[in-house]
Amino acid sequence: MNHLTIRQEEPGDYRATENLVRESFWNVYRPGCLEHFVLHEFRTRPEFCADLDLVLVRDDELIGQVMYVKNSLRTSSQTELPILTMGPICIHPNYQRQGYGKILLDRSLDLAAETDAVGVFMEGNINFYGKSGFVVASTLGVHYMDEPTDDPVPYFLGKILKENAWQKDTEVRYRVPAGYFVDEKQAEEFDRQFPPKERLRLPGQLFG
Ligand SMILES: CC(C)(COP(=O)(O)OP(=O)(O)OC[C@H]1O[C@@H](n2cnc3c(N)ncnc32)[C@H](O)[C@@H]1OP(=O)(O)O)[C@@H](O)C(=O)NCCC(=O)NCCS
Repeated sequence: MNHLTIRQEEPGDYRATENLVRESFWNVYRPGCLEHFVLHEFRTRPEFCADLDLVLVRDDELIGQVMYVKNSLRTSSQTELPILTMGPICIHPNYQRQGYGKILLDRSLDLAAETDAVGVFMEGNINFYGKSGFVVASTLGVHYMDEPTDDPVPYFLGKILKENAWQKDTEVRYRVPAGYFVDEKQAEEFDRQFPPKERLRLPGQLFG
């Protein structure tokens, strides 16, 4: 039986976690990836949740990572609802589809429920996140960026953490936190600190 630990990321993990994120996202959504630079940059931003910056260690090997960012929704009655944006989350390619991602996500959601956030939102695949209670966010009345409300974005997902604090509003707008929009040239420069890897254009990638 393998020993699993989920704990806060520590400074001594930083480079190993970034390398894990790079290995997990490389060539998945674009040639190469930006997610390791996103994590690197977020750690020093005030909206980064250090308490929810988690790693999954299997025996002595770091195999998973998840992070959260403080965000808010503005309702049409001008109330601010505190929420969290989740991601990136990853499991090392050698350990994917063995249940580890769900274990890490569910533990992080339990901890997220202890914060003042009323819900968690992010872009993702409902086939994975749906198993942990996420739904297409438009069904909760939350709409993505400036997209029209009558054309739901199927990959924009949400999970309510506090039903009683949640006022279903006809038009609540979600905005992606600024820290996710990293400069691609700076990301390339940052990537040179890691062992060389080939950027490939592959079918199914969303960008690039
Ligand atoms: C997405 C990711 C975190 C999932 O972690 P995982 O450990 O592989 O997932 P789990 O084994 O816990 O999956 C639980 C269930 O979610 C679903 N699921 C997981 N990954 C999926 C995928 N890529 N596509 C469709 N369904 C998926 C499956 O139903 C799975 O159950 P099953 O294997 O019995 O069919 C991991 O595959 C990963 O790091 N991928 C690359 C980076 C990434 O895409 N991160 C998410 C960005 S939104």
